[in-house]
Amino acid sequence: MTWAATVLTLYPEMFPGPLGLSLAGRAMAQEIWSLDTVQIRDFATDRHRSVDDTPAGGGAGMVMRADILAAAVDCVLERRPGAPILAMTPRGRPLDQALVRDLAAGSGVSILCGRFEGIDERLFEGRPILPVSIGDYVLSGGEVAALTLLDACVRLLPGVMGAASSGDDESFEQGLLEYPHYTRPLIWEGRRIPEVLRSGDHAKIAAWRASRAAEDTRLRRPDLIARHGDARRPPPSGARHEEESD
Ligand code: ADE
Repeated sequence: MTWAATVLTLYPEMFPGPLGLSLAGRAMAQEIWSLDTVQIRDFATDRHRSVDDTPAGGGAGMVMRADILAAAVDCVLERRPGAPILAMTPRGRPLDQALVRDLAAGSGVSILCGRFEGIDERLFEGRPILPVSIGDYVLSGGEVAALTLLDACVRLLPGVMGAASSGDDESFEQGLLEYPHYTRPLIWEGRRIPEVLRSGDHAKIAAWRASRAAEDTRLRRPDLIARHGDARRPPPSGARHEEESD
């Protein structure tokens, strides 16, 4: 079955954008996934087709109206009752590989792209929408964030990546950054590929990679270590719990 993405946006021309090329573009041509857009402005009710208004309480910018967005969301919910609806906003829960995996394992996703100062909060109370952020910085709108999320999902769909890149070793799959990679030439600007990688000893290579993944994560992303802790580490093989001893 085709994994179906629907994007609610004021800028449908931004899609599929980069997702029409390379891995995602080929997968779309093979109908592994599909993408359609909904123009939020089509749900406006005035002759100016306005979708926003000034913020209650004052302040800069404009706020997207809950009533207009709800009409657009309801239309999508009706069309695809099973698919989760996300809204891209810096106020959302941080996107991570676990959420990407969950979404890719489902039938698809609908994504509302925020613009302006934000979305009227009552929309999130009145509709089952999961707010999602792609990081602690502010984009000019949710569209680029939606493209990011879709790219991360699509590459996990069955048949999109080659068998060689099943993804088990990738960054974040084990709660760590991935180990570093090297390829020819053997020596570049005086720097050699680590000797162990040329040894042909698969156990040694795996151990080196595991140790580099742990070391680099500790240096670059101590927050990942703190979050995953020792839960990530499998028990030593053959180890038995004290209680199990006879
Ligand atoms: N819209 C603006 N900034 C964003 C962010 N960091 N994540 C998701 N959507 C956004």
